[in-house]
Amino acid sequence: MILVTGATGNIGSALVKELRAFGVGPVRGLTRDIARAVFPAAVEAVEGDMARPASLKAALEGVRSLFLVSRLGPDAEILEAARRAGVEHVVLVSSITVQSHPHLGPAKENLAVERLLKGSGMTWTILRPTQFASNALWWAEAIRERQSVRVPYADIGLPTIHPADIASVARAALTEPGHGGLTYAMTGPEQITPRQQLAAIAQAVGREVPFVEISRAEAHRDMAAFLGDEAAAAVLDITGGDVNEELLSVRNTVTQVTRAPARTFAQWAGENADSFR
Ligand SMILES: NC(=O)c1ccc[n+]([C@@H]2O[C@H](COP(=O)([O-])OP(=O)(O)OC[C@H]3O[C@@H](n4cnc5c(N)ncnc54)[C@H](OP(=O)(O)O)[C@@H]3O)[C@@H](O)[C@H]2O)c1
Repeated sequence: MILVTGATGNIGSALVKELRAFGVGPVRGLTRDIARAVFPAAVEAVEGDMARPASLKAALEGVRSLFLVSRLGPDAEILEAARRAGVEHVVLVSSITVQSHPHLGPAKENLAVERLLKGSGMTWTILRPTQFASNALWWAEAIRERQSVRVPYADIGLPTIHPADIASVARAALTEPGHGGLTYAMTGPEQITPRQQLAAIAQAVGREVPFVEISRAEAHRDMAAFLGDEAAAAVLDITGGDVNEELLSVRNTVTQVTRAPARTFAQWAGENADSFR
């Protein structure tokens, strides 16, 4: 049995679909609200709240492989519950910032979970993706309402990754031999700037998408209102204010692991055009 946490999220929803498409089974998807979650046929939906590890008992029963989105609850307790339930292999979503920006708070938290997993006694595979294409959904409301999108660092290109590619690497790690004890830093196939992302979204929705480039201070004000000061500063650093080679490099991990080309941002925009209409 494979348990996918975050199964209604960007990576998890693609992962349960891909596991079914590959005929892998049985597969279970975790959600806090079984009535709202929509999973492909033959994926067993199970309710649980990672903030309350005791609620994961039914979800973990019979599970041998676990796809783990971390920092949704006390990860040490969640990993211990998994180990006790008999989980043998955990595929963990971490972040490229562990190696590009280890001084930032979220990177420190991800590194701490990586260390917990490595010390857990279970086989581990760590995924360190770069910025997700789905972060463009932050612009969706403005685009739907035909307002100008406010964008800092409009011409700094990052090797943004399609969440389905993270899912494809996770599927390989969960179902094929040889991925235990490995850490995969992974990116999309090319660097793409916010300006180019908005052009791809415009192409996908079939109309112009106006935007205005704003300063870091303006963007910080916008973001801090809902993320808080520290998280807003971290997001701005890693999207343009303090980028480095480790973050900017295009890596061919997706192709090496899945034997398929990494998906482009344009593909993601085409698949998600309705979110911007
Ligand atoms: N975005 C980026 O650019 C980026 C870059 C690098 C790494 N990452 C990492 O990627 C991960 C996020 O992946 P994602 O985008 O696929 O996730 P996501 O779309 O944000 O979805 C997370 C899922 O987790 C579930 N969830 C939330 N709280 C929960 C709880 N208390 N108990 C059980 N489930 C809970 C939600 O499902 P229900 O509502 O159905 O319960 C939700 O579908 C994070 O660890 C992040 O650090 C992100």
